[in-house]
Amino acid sequence: MLVQLTYASQATQTLGPMDVKDILQKSQRNNAAVGVTGALCLANGIFLQQLEGDRDVVNRVYLRILNDSRHSVPSILDFGEIASRRFSNWNMGLISSLAENRQIFLKYSRKSEFDPYSMSPSSLRGFFDEIVQGGVRWIG
Ligand SMILES: Cc1cc2nc3c(=O)[nH]c(=O)nc-3n(C[C@H](O)[C@H](O)[C@H](O)COP(=O)(O)O)c2cc1C
Repeated sequence: MLVQLTYASQATQTLGPMDVKDILQKSQRNNAAVGVTGALCLANGIFLQQLEGDRDVVNRVYLRILNDSRHSVPSILDFGEIASRRFSNWNMGLISSLAENRQIFLKYSRKSEFDPYSMSPSSLRGFFDEIVQGGVRWIG
């Protein structure tokens, strides 16, 4: 069964650009091997990630990610069956948090600061849909 899982977590204070690069490289390699796709966003010190794939596999990958000391305070924001993948071209795409993306972040957020913890599942879906439609610059 194909599912998507969306969660937020707080980046640890010590996180640097090399950590983000390492996370992305490992994610792309590991996810490609098990058929997981998705996107990762880091803004305002908060990670927002959507994982897509087989239910058992997505659970396994998520549990491994939870053990990573580069983030804490994880919270599952949305989980459910999907008919098709959103990020079929991305084993793990990084959504740039450059100033030009701020508008899209804020469009779906109740707060002036990007705060995925407070976003509803439907806002999150709108946010990720817009990213896929090309409104956001991608890295990786
Ligand atoms: C916010 C965040 C997102 C991550 N996303 C993934 C992911 O999608 N897939 C993955 O394999 N590892 C991901 N990781 C890295 C894992 O926690 C772990 O370091 C990695 O899977 C270990 O890979 P290795 O056993 O090949 O060294 C993520 C880590 C963080 C902090």
